[in-house]
Amino acid sequence: MLDEKKEKLQKTIDFLQKRMTINPKVAIVLGSGLGGLTKIMDIVEEIPYVEIPNFPVSTVKGHKGTLIFGRINQVDVVVLNGRFHYYEGYPMETVTYPEMVFAGLGIKILILSNAAGGMNPTFQVGDIMLIRDHINFFGTNPLIGPNDDNLGPRFPNMSEVYSRRLRKIAHQKAKEQQIHLQEGVYIGVTGPCFETPSEYKAYYLLGADAVGMSTVPEAIIGAYRGMEIFAFSVITDLGVVGQVMEATHEEVLQAAKTAEPKMIKLIYEMMPEL
Ligand code: HPA
Repeated sequence: MLDEKKEKLQKTIDFLQKRMTINPKVAIVLGSGLGGLTKIMDIVEEIPYVEIPNFPVSTVKGHKGTLIFGRINQVDVVVLNGRFHYYEGYPMETVTYPEMVFAGLGIKILILSNAAGGMNPTFQVGDIMLIRDHINFFGTNPLIGPNDDNLGPRFPNMSEVYSRRLRKIAHQKAKEQQIHLQEGVYIGVTGPCFETPSEYKAYYLLGADAVGMSTVPEAIIGAYRGMEIFAFSVITDLGVVGQVMEATHEEVLQAAKTAEPKMIKLIYEMMPEL
């Protein structure tokens, strides 16, 4: 990393380290319409992005811009309440800035959530899909540019981005709580357009079960920085051949809200096992 960028990042990390009164090992990134997780948190401190030096500020409806430190089921966590999307016009470096900060703060486990369209014909709106693997279809990569070997390898291994261990815990907890879980491959695209019927079909043929406009860049940085990653999609609309829904942002937010209690329960139950 260039010295200037390193200094910028370090300034953010230093600020947060001074403000933090807990020392979380887990970071959670909340997707569209999934902000309700904060309701089950014992909040210790909520810091608006605008108060954090060099932190980006988010623009989308349904995305708040605060970093929240607190506890979920006795476990210290930091929650990114409002992520940065590539389609908003941010460069990849900004999209993944929070994950670089998390790694710098010593976070070991990264939990990513998102709303996604489901292509797998066995999926229904409101399902939760654990992400087993991803396809980076952004046409770019957050690691393009000079590499700082102190942070991670030039050619990062991507053979198990989404931790098998964490997926196993999720399946166990879901079974205990009678939460129906799907598992599949997420394809990350730039957006902001929802897919045409032919695009949904093409992505399914490529091997993806769900499509969305986030998560992949963040997971790449998480893997690069050696974090253990757990990610899931809430299926908010279907792009199944022959039954493509007319997705709108409002419907996506509404469907995410409906599935939210399941997701909250799952995360709550998983926490002590992490
Ligand atoms: N496509 C892309 N992103 C999405 C979708 C979709 O169908 N639903 C929610 N986010």
